[in-house]
Amino acid sequence: MSPSMPAAADLLAAHPRILVTGGAGFIGGAVVRRLLSDSEALVFNLDKCGYASNLTGIEQLLAGLGDKAQTPQGLCRHQLLQVDLTHAEATAAAVQAADPDLVLHLAAESHVDRSIEGPAAFIDSNVIGTFNLLQAVRHHWQQLPTERRARFRFHHISTDEVFGSLGATGRFSETTPYDPRSPYSASKAASDHLVNAWHHTYGLPVVLTNCSNNYGPWQFPEKLIPVVILKAACGEPIPLYGDGQNVRDWLYVEDHVDALLLAATQGQLGQSYCVGGHGERTNKQVVETICNALDALLPAGAPHSRLITPVTDRPGHDRRYAIDPTRISSELGWQPRHSFQEGLAATVAWYLEQQDWCRNVQERAGFSGERQGLLGKNLPNSQSERSDTTA
Ligand code: NAD
Ligand code: TYD
Repeated sequence: MSPSMPAAADLLAAHPRILVTGGAGFIGGAVVRRLLSDSEALVFNLDKCGYASNLTGIEQLLAGLGDKAQTPQGLCRHQLLQVDLTHAEATAAAVQAADPDLVLHLAAESHVDRSIEGPAAFIDSNVIGTFNLLQAVRHHWQQLPTERRARFRFHHISTDEVFGSLGATGRFSETTPYDPRSPYSASKAASDHLVNAWHHTYGLPVVLTNCSNNYGPWQFPEKLIPVVILKAACGEPIPLYGDGQNVRDWLYVEDHVDALLLAATQGQLGQSYCVGGHGERTNKQVVETICNALDALLPAGAPHSRLITPVTDRPGHDRRYAIDPTRISSELGWQPRHSFQEGLAATVAWYLEQQDWCRNVQERAGFSGERQGLLGKNLPNSQSERSDTTA
């Protein structure tokens, strides 16, 4: 923990009941695990349990927490609410049951390639789902007794992709105009606008964060870093989109969780915070770094870089993302704790250990590592687009 990062238990003392949406996903799961291990909060995990969801990490943590896994009244501190945010009534009932002091809203469809093939699910979950949640939370907040109402907060977790694509220079900050360019980023931008509107119009106490690309354990293996590790470990071609020179600003997921806990509890209401750890790399650099790590761990397959295979570029592929984190660093004292080298080494080691888990979650999702997001295939009608494989 960086010297300026207060303990989670202190940050969360005023928020004994926390509702996390999307807590069965990658980042939400890391948030839930941190809340369970480092605070005493009762955590309600609202998730539709879709294709990218998995609760194994949370279950493993709970098993090791002993008495701390329960409230003094003997209730498990992790309560799963399997609810789809696109259902307004179920969402309202879940918010009422959770009766939260703090809401961390992470639930979203999150993979750009899937948004290219099936944008409807992104509009449903990210736009309509956020709208339904805001309405339910607004009603809940208005009914709270004065003292709890004054402490209540809604934190919307978003992405740097809402700002569009950078050229060779410059970085995104809180004042960068929105310019989303993929169905995913457009749906997230819409959700950010809804959250801000509920603050300005209804006074809902909100905070937003816009973070760069995350990586780390428990990420559903369809995004760049887990895809590369798993394919390279099996000796399969590593797909590198286009010329491999697109830049992403990589942040280890636990550093994002630090930022989320600070912003959720200490951030100025109505304010947004850009989160990124100066982790800019071209995709080619990322892939080569993973290959080098694997050469040391699996020398029989070396050099893994021989597997790197340029493939057709992603339609509308954003060229470069980079974050200026000055506001969250100077106002809230956030600093990343992991260098890219450290975080990536831990992530590579984790995925090599967890290849069975990866196979299981892919199989359950009906996904076997095939290329996603190319135009001209799977032109769906809106019904089949919306179908999902539940976890
Ligand atoms: P993820 O896909 O791993 O998990 C998202 C979770 O949300 C899943 O468990 C899914 O079932 C749930 N969900 C989706 N639609 C839902 C609905 N309609 N109702 C209930 N639950 C639903 O995603 P992630 O990578 O953990 O991302 C979490 C959040 O962080 C998203 O809002 C994303 O936009 C944002 N974010 C992600 C990154 C990144 O690099 N992954 C970076 C910045 C911001
Ligand atoms: P991804 O992990 O899908 O995140 P995002 O699109 O939200 O940034 O992709 C990261 C980068 O890696 C992006 O520029 C696309 C590229 N990419 C590949 O080159 N090969 C792949 O197999 C994948 C999944 C992504």
